[in-house]
Amino acid sequence: MRIALGVGGGIAAYKAAELARLLIQRGHQVQVIMTSGAQEFITPLTFATLTGRKTITGLFSNVSPEATLASAVEHIAVAQENDILLVAPATANIMSHFAHGLADDFLSTLYLAFTGPVVLAPAMNVNMWAHPATQANFETLTKRGHVLVAPPEGFLACGMTGPGRLAEPADIADAVERELNPVSDYADETVLITAGPTEEPVDPVRFLSNRSSGKMGYALAQEALNRGARVILISGPVALTAPRGVDLIQVRTAQEMHDAVFASLDGVTMVIKCAAVSDFQAASVPAEKMKKTTANFSMELEPTVDILAELGRAKGDWVLVGFAAETGNLEQEAKRKLAEKNCDMIVGNLVGTSTTGFGSDENEVVLVTKSGTTEVPRATKREVAERILTEALTLRHAS
Ligand code: C5P
Repeated sequence: MRIALGVGGGIAAYKAAELARLLIQRGHQVQVIMTSGAQEFITPLTFATLTGRKTITGLFSNVSPEATLASAVEHIAVAQENDILLVAPATANIMSHFAHGLADDFLSTLYLAFTGPVVLAPAMNVNMWAHPATQANFETLTKRGHVLVAPPEGFLACGMTGPGRLAEPADIADAVERELNPVSDYADETVLITAGPTEEPVDPVRFLSNRSSGKMGYALAQEALNRGARVILISGPVALTAPRGVDLIQVRTAQEMHDAVFASLDGVTMVIKCAAVSDFQAASVPAEKMKKTTANFSMELEPTVDILAELGRAKGDWVLVGFAAETGNLEQEAKRKLAEKNCDMIVGNLVGTSTTGFGSDENEVVLVTKSGTTEVPRATKREVAERILTEALTLRHAS
């Protein structure tokens, strides 16, 4: 395959040389485009030697008075010739250019002209990564369908420790190959996924709910769809657009979610209960809005139907995956739920004080099955979804 590799101006630029070599070893053709910042860290000659092709260094670098039309519109040709655009390291500046459609150098111009898949491997200082501006760009680019190979935590050249390092070249190359050769290992599966929070009415205008954004469940739906599954997505109220191609059933309360789940089980081979279902509902809901009062008052709550536990009791041929959102004792709680709710796997994630989990675009989970625990380090929810589905499919084949 033909890969356009954009190299940004950061200290991690030297690792892009190893990445280029690895991609070539794996049989791809690599066309490197360096930003002017990247050329301060590593020379175009390094990449030209590794790839056997001229390194592109600027929009106008080849445009001489005798220039041909071909060299003047080189960015269009590169856009048409390549199967994928990879940027590593993707600096905060590049992410910002891409997110906002600024085109003032070869790489950002190529990006706008390119219609194929885009993989970005960010690398920058911890604070730059955590800045709301960078995180907003990250979200925009993820929503646009681009793959972001999240920066793992570790020691950074600036002397700080935290997320910001470039991912390992082999992991970046794997992400590129997954985009180029989509797997269809879920072609025989019908996956029912629940996502988002539920809302339990307290009176006609108020409700009990939680901070679930639905992002993890929607990432699972997208990933299962990409891998060839038929997907039934039963979703509580969220501000997300459902992936194109899913059978979407929108619900509000735990009871509605329960009814939708049990009405949809026919032909299902896997159930993933990602929704953060409210554990309590009001014992009675008045027909009129409750009046404001200055005195304290109590409200009687009763447990909602435990959909996962009922699924565990009714357990059919399908693989059953539950979630455990905890604020502590993660593995222990996940193990307890695995046994109590008769699940095949529990995905445990820390919520509350953590910067992953509810609302975030990233997650860090443990996958607990009867045969042991696998830790999935902090990654984008899409990458975490990929890991969950791979593990769940192994269980399905073993059953
Ligand atoms: O016991 P806990 O509520 O923490 O378990 C979380 C798991 O149970 C999640 O998979 C969630 O979707 C599911 N659940 C459910 N029905 C409820 C509460 C939780 O299916 N009423």
